[in-house]
Amino acid sequence: MAGYLVEDTRKVTAQRLIEMKQQGKKIAMLTSYDYTMAQLVDQAGIDAILIGDSASNVMAGNATTLPITVDEMIYHARGVVRGVHRALVVCDMPFGSYQVCADDGVRNAIRIMKETGADAVKLEGGIEIVDTIRRIIEAGIPVMGHLGLTPQSVNKFGGYGVRAKEKAEADKLIADAHALEEAGCFAIVLEKIPAALTAQVCAELAVPIIGIGGGPADGQVLVVQDMLGMNQGFSPKFLRRYANLYNVITDAVGHYVADVKQGDFPNEGERY
Ligand code: KIV
Repeated sequence: MAGYLVEDTRKVTAQRLIEMKQQGKKIAMLTSYDYTMAQLVDQAGIDAILIGDSASNVMAGNATTLPITVDEMIYHARGVVRGVHRALVVCDMPFGSYQVCADDGVRNAIRIMKETGADAVKLEGGIEIVDTIRRIIEAGIPVMGHLGLTPQSVNKFGGYGVRAKEKAEADKLIADAHALEEAGCFAIVLEKIPAALTAQVCAELAVPIIGIGGGPADGQVLVVQDMLGMNQGFSPKFLRRYANLYNVITDAVGHYVADVKQGDFPNEGERY
């Protein structure tokens, strides 16, 4: 089943995201971490789904993305893949799964693809991991890059502030983006950087740039729980909430609690 806004029901591929940029079509991407949510998001017509390592925060309640493991990412990704018919499915490679050496990166990327059925992997970093990215692509695996605020490096950055505001870091980001494109990345996420820098990278690169907190780009990605208004405590400037599921869910659960306590549920028609 395809979303009500989607005319093209073919399975989205990495190559098709590049064609969308060439045709001036924007790319809509969201995270999902489980079967039920992925099915909803896919049926609503999303182009790409990211099993983000933000699952570490959103699903497991960790303060950072660092603790999540390859096994845990595989668990989340398998559920997502079962729920998706149309969207491109990209699985994050978690912290520690590719930073030590290229061999580790290739081995873990192959494991993720083999055990989940995802369509591609995403890695955080620039020139320092370009050899690993090249090797993963040589193994036949499409790779999405990720620059700017890369949460796996939060301890190096000292927080989650806007990146590349200074010229030296902006110049490095532009060089990194070109290196990722030359290595064969089919798309790059740019997180939390000045909008003018995002615009420059979009103009210089042929591959699509997917923004989050980076202003207009070839596409956008958000964490699905954030855009659905399930997390009340997280309100960055870049976030637009499309629903207030926090209220919807707590109201519904509150009603259920009251019904059970008053002996109102189950009623005559809700029993055998
Ligand atoms: O893990 C994640 O959700 C991400 C997005 C924020 C791009 O990497």
